[in-house]
Amino acid sequence: MEATHSAGQRLLLISSSIVTSLALAAGSAVAQNGTAAAPIPPVTFTAQQDQQNMMRQLGIRALRPGPSGNEKSPNHANYDETKAGPYPDLPDALRLNNGRKVTTPQVWWSKRRPEIVDDFEKYVYGRVPTNVPKVTWSIVAADHEVIGGNPVLARQLVGHVDNSACPIISVDIRMTLVTPEKATGPVPVLIMFGPGGFPAPKQPSYQELARINAAMKALLIQQDPSLRQVFQDHPAYEPERPVPFRFPHFNADGDPPRTWELIAAGWGFATLDPASIQADNAAGLTRGIIGLVNQGQPRTPEQWGALRAWAWGAGRALDYLKTDPSVDGEHVGIEGVSRYGKAALVAMAFDPRFYMGLIGSSGKGGATPFRRNFGEAVESLTGGEYYWMAGNFMKYGASDAAFGSKTAADLPVDSNELIALCAPRLTFISYGIPEKGDAKWLDHRGSFMATVAASPVYTLLGVKGLVGVSQDYRTAKMPPVNDGLLGGRLAWRQDDGGHTDAPNMKYFIEWADKRMLHSSASGERAH
Ligand code: GCU
Repeated sequence: MEATHSAGQRLLLISSSIVTSLALAAGSAVAQNGTAAAPIPPVTFTAQQDQQNMMRQLGIRALRPGPSGNEKSPNHANYDETKAGPYPDLPDALRLNNGRKVTTPQVWWSKRRPEIVDDFEKYVYGRVPTNVPKVTWSIVAADHEVIGGNPVLARQLVGHVDNSACPIISVDIRMTLVTPEKATGPVPVLIMFGPGGFPAPKQPSYQELARINAAMKALLIQQDPSLRQVFQDHPAYEPERPVPFRFPHFNADGDPPRTWELIAAGWGFATLDPASIQADNAAGLTRGIIGLVNQGQPRTPEQWGALRAWAWGAGRALDYLKTDPSVDGEHVGIEGVSRYGKAALVAMAFDPRFYMGLIGSSGKGGATPFRRNFGEAVESLTGGEYYWMAGNFMKYGASDAAFGSKTAADLPVDSNELIALCAPRLTFISYGIPEKGDAKWLDHRGSFMATVAASPVYTLLGVKGLVGVSQDYRTAKMPPVNDGLLGGRLAWRQDDGGHTDAPNMKYFIEWADKRMLHSSASGERAH
């Protein structure tokens, strides 16, 4: 049975923790003067306090420790394929919870998909509260730049979240949108999780720089007249120098940066800063968008974790992009690597307005099945990484709790179904190789199995899923490194690079372009 708590119980749970003296003090102030409720100050927890608070809410007394990533450590993660399948059966995306087989798209859309969404929300990633305030986007600066020889327009945007209900917490989502200036019409855009900023800020001309330097020297002399002599002694010295030309970082395959490739292909891209949506740490759960909605109080077990919050932010970025005339709002994708690969997959799965996704090295909590015992474990995600997930997810790492104990096998859903939620949209599962740093921890084979197991949903919906491989995830043979399975709308490619999707970017663009019938040369696109 689910642990549910009334508001009163919740307050008790929270108040048994260290910080509550604050909350209680505020509460009694309200009671004494009897006036309208004064806002309760936001809770400031350490990561440990927050986790313990959630454990108390769930009735968990102890968690199984996660394995170590270090193969020399005695409790290291399993890397023996023969021991990877203690729970070999993935839940069937095409079987209703009542046991019936799903045989028509209609039943998928009206019954099965909502069931899977509901289970992921309740037990895995958490629900987005219904009262998330509105986001208002504004362009704060624009710059004409050049990327890989192509002129672009770069715009810095801020999505301000209405915080009038809790002014002490502010959330301003940062996004940079970059579109090719030569485009003859709206372009497809890939939203990429990352810090952002202007990619190639336009620099002052030689003459402008000379004026800046003259003014700076004058100001410095004003501040310290003896500097006149210094400048006279060093006539060639200039406080500001032109930014030297730097060769871009080409990847191991000799490819230019991913953003160059996108612009050269006639796409745009947007970098979206996850930290401006929700901090990547547990102590931040009472701040950011999750904290703002809770007015600074800790989460309840079904509420969203950081992955869902980042995905929500991507959805708000998409809201904006759909209003921008330079963007083809019907062809916006989402990209991320590692924890942001997980977030990108969550965004694709929950928001059907995303046309495509490039899911880089996402591992557990992303494309890798929870049920596989290889590398990172559910116990890793319920340990230090629990804040990525709904509080409820922690139950599956519990060894001693009011409800007994649970393991990955008790999860009603698995990652093959998360991928299936993306059907029939373009979903590219990307990995590198352990030898170059895409650690075994990620469980490449497990992700491949989940991708295979998701494919029948694409088929049911009348499009090609993963092409060129058997549809049985238990026996399907993984293609060799650099041999992509790119013939359908669900794609798999393990490149020979590291913990990055950069070597796969050109394959992704070509694959998606073909399906959009997008021709960057003519600017024509049919849907
Ligand atoms: C850790 C974590 C992974 C995660 C990765 C990252 O390895 O266990 O789940 O994907 O960090 O995001 O860098």
